[in-house]
Amino acid sequence: MENQMNKTALTGKRVIVLGASSGLGLATAIAAAAEGAKVVIVSGNQQRINEALTRLPAGSEGYAVDLSNEQNIKNFFEQAGYFDHLVYTAGENLTLNKISDLVLADAHSFFNLRYWGVLAAIKYGAPYIREGGSINLTGGIASPRPNTGWGIAASICGAMEGFTRAMAVELAPIRVNQVSPGVIRTNLWNSMSAEDRENLYTSVGEALLLKRVGEAEDIAQTFIYMMKQQFATGQVITVDGGALLV
Ligand SMILES: NC(=O)c1ccc[n+]([C@@H]2O[C@H](COP(=O)([O-])OP(=O)(O)OC[C@H]3O[C@@H](n4cnc5c(N)ncnc54)[C@H](OP(=O)(O)O)[C@@H]3O)[C@@H](O)[C@H]2O)c1
Repeated sequence: MENQMNKTALTGKRVIVLGASSGLGLATAIAAAAEGAKVVIVSGNQQRINEALTRLPAGSEGYAVDLSNEQNIKNFFEQAGYFDHLVYTAGENLTLNKISDLVLADAHSFFNLRYWGVLAAIKYGAPYIREGGSINLTGGIASPRPNTGWGIAASICGAMEGFTRAMAVELAPIRVNQVSPGVIRTNLWNSMSAEDRENLYTSVGEALLLKRVGEAEDIAQTFIYMMKQQFATGQVITVDGGALLV
């Protein structure tokens, strides 16, 4: 029993969160640090990383790495060394387009950070994951529940689900799981005006079973669970306030 407790605790474990200067990633880093983990946060912007570090315990590490670039990811993991858990939450602000308005070159580029970046992070990061470790990815309910204009986001989320299962098989006993969030109040929605954003949170929240949109901490707690538990792999955990049921 005590042995099992040691395995599941995050105390002293090294957790790397890619895309952690704000939103789901920063909330996860804060929650992991509160559980005693040593956290390493990464985003594309050093100033935002420095600001995020002020919210984490002394000794936490933070680096600026453009995760849409394979070579940067390779260099990062070679320098970072061994660790226990990887969380990938990097993503650009949301852009929605009907297929008739889509510029294909833009559509290609959306995959760089949210799909190819994930593949590269696993390719170069997995060899450094210690026994008992895990990889924790981010999808979204755009795949099972798309709306008009969500073609690219739905494709990325759908691809991520298959990839999660494939990596769980290939990299076992490293556990590979994914959280699939509904609408969560973060910077992701900052391409909308503040007024439109608040209207969206209110209207979406009212339509949900749980009568609110999500907060970054809701997803952080899911990542913490995924890191600590020892027997689920290849799973997609939906955390959406009941959006798939309404
Ligand atoms: N919020 C939602 O409603 C929701 C729902 C479903 C899925 N998701 C997904 O969850 C993930 C996290 O989003 P969030 O809501 O937490 O948004 P967020 O607060 O905007 O966080 C996105 C993170 O990605 C980083 N990032 C952006 N470009 C980067 C780059 N080129 N290299 C490295 N890091 C980069 C940002 O840091 P810098 O700006 O400092 O580089 C930031 O730390 C995204 O993939 C998003 O699509 C979110």
